[in-house]
Amino acid sequence: MPNTYAVILAAGQGTRMKSKLYKVLHPVCGKPMVEHVVDEVAKVGADRIVTIVGHGAEAVSETLGEKSEYALQEEQLGTAHAVEQAEEVLGGLEGTTLVICGDTPLIQAETMQSLLDHHKEMNAKATILTAHAEDPTGYGRIIRDENGEVLRNVEEKDASEKERRVTEINTGTYCFDNRALFEALRRVDNDNAQGEYYLPDVIRILKEDGEVVAAYETPKFEDMLGVNDRVALSEAERRMRLRIAEKHMRNGVTIMSPEQTIISADAVIGQDTVLYPGVIIEGATTIGSDCHIGPNSHIVNSTIGRATTVHSSVVLESSIGDETAVGPFAHIRPQSVIHNEVKIGNFVEVKKSTVGNSSKLSHLSYVGDATIGEEVNLGCGTITVNYDGKNKYETVVGDRSFIGCNTNLVAPVTVESDAFVAAGTTVTKDVPSDALAIGRVRQENKEGYVSKLK
Ligand code: UD1
Ligand code: CA
Repeated sequence: MPNTYAVILAAGQGTRMKSKLYKVLHPVCGKPMVEHVVDEVAKVGADRIVTIVGHGAEAVSETLGEKSEYALQEEQLGTAHAVEQAEEVLGGLEGTTLVICGDTPLIQAETMQSLLDHHKEMNAKATILTAHAEDPTGYGRIIRDENGEVLRNVEEKDASEKERRVTEINTGTYCFDNRALFEALRRVDNDNAQGEYYLPDVIRILKEDGEVVAAYETPKFEDMLGVNDRVALSEAERRMRLRIAEKHMRNGVTIMSPEQTIISADAVIGQDTVLYPGVIIEGATTIGSDCHIGPNSHIVNSTIGRATTVHSSVVLESSIGDETAVGPFAHIRPQSVIHNEVKIGNFVEVKKSTVGNSSKLSHLSYVGDATIGEEVNLGCGTITVNYDGKNKYETVVGDRSFIGCNTNLVAPVTVESDAFVAAGTTVTKDVPSDALAIGRVRQENKEGYVSKLK
């Protein structure tokens, strides 16, 4: 099997995005466009992947890390000039080189494989991936001769009226015989409407040389959307969202309303988990099997165990165990670790805290910088007083302790295991195991007071 290489074009600023962020770094379902492309290329098993960087070179290489090698295009003189920058890495090598634009986030490995297979079958020096577009606006058009053979690509800005009516477009994806590619690139000029060195001109040059030039028309035009502006970005987002939802549904996840459910590209979800409408799952989130993720829950970079319910709640950078219930209307803030069979009820905020197995924080609490043991009951309105305006302090509540309603735990403070805190207490001293802490004004009843007032 001959070597396969890939060049990914990602040096452009992306003026049409009107953004501070470089085009290829705009996320689609939470993952930068160019990373989608690189991840798909990797599935094809390319021996070397070279990403051409220019605008935002550092940001792009930081994002992709070791998934790719890099070549710098200092000035963006066009797509052919961009590919030429890969010569220092790939020049002279024998094999087949895929070229893909970094702004084509929906492209799939199978499509690239079909392109490579067709290229090999045709014994071609260059094969261009084309598609039929209902509306070809903005794309290069494929010009074929009377026998249907590909002659060249013409950019929209250089096309005649007649050429513009062609609906077969250049998807911006190609494969080439590696040596023929770099040899032909030297002969590309910039004598066109945009004054740029156009990569698809290589097709015309090789054709004129009498080489075999082929085209592979993919039936999946919708996978070949080139994102040049925010309208196309939202379209890519919509399609990717449905694709991701479909993958999970095929794996056994129930998604009640895929159009209204947002799942990041890298999320993992177990079988028989049910997602209600309005769920947003972002980043590297893992959700186990048999979970119910209720309406409008927002879960970011978190891990959720098995058979857990999260209902209309926010969970950020935290981990939640098995058979736990969260919400409705709970807020789990970063670095929280909630273990198994825990109940976090409505209007409870947990921040940077650990909650042990079978503990209950059922209503209206704030728990910050705390370690809560197992089988603890935090009564309604329990507050950890963790902040004095300058510093944060820790609260510890031991196993099986019972904290009555409306308790303030003024940190740093420890309630040892098997202790009891009476409702309404402001705890300022450690409470030993087995003790009752009670700190509240004694009640006095003034008999007959109300009728005396009248
Ligand atoms: C390009 C194709 C067009 C095709 C379309 C498919 C050319 C001349 N045109 O047009 O035929 O229909 O893609 O989406 O190739 N880039 C660089 N360096 C440069 C210029 C571009 O790295 O000097 C990168 C960009 O970052 C981008 C990609 O190449 O990721 C494509 O460039 P773009 O300007 O978006 O080309 P299109 O006008 O979309
Ligand atoms: Ca483009």
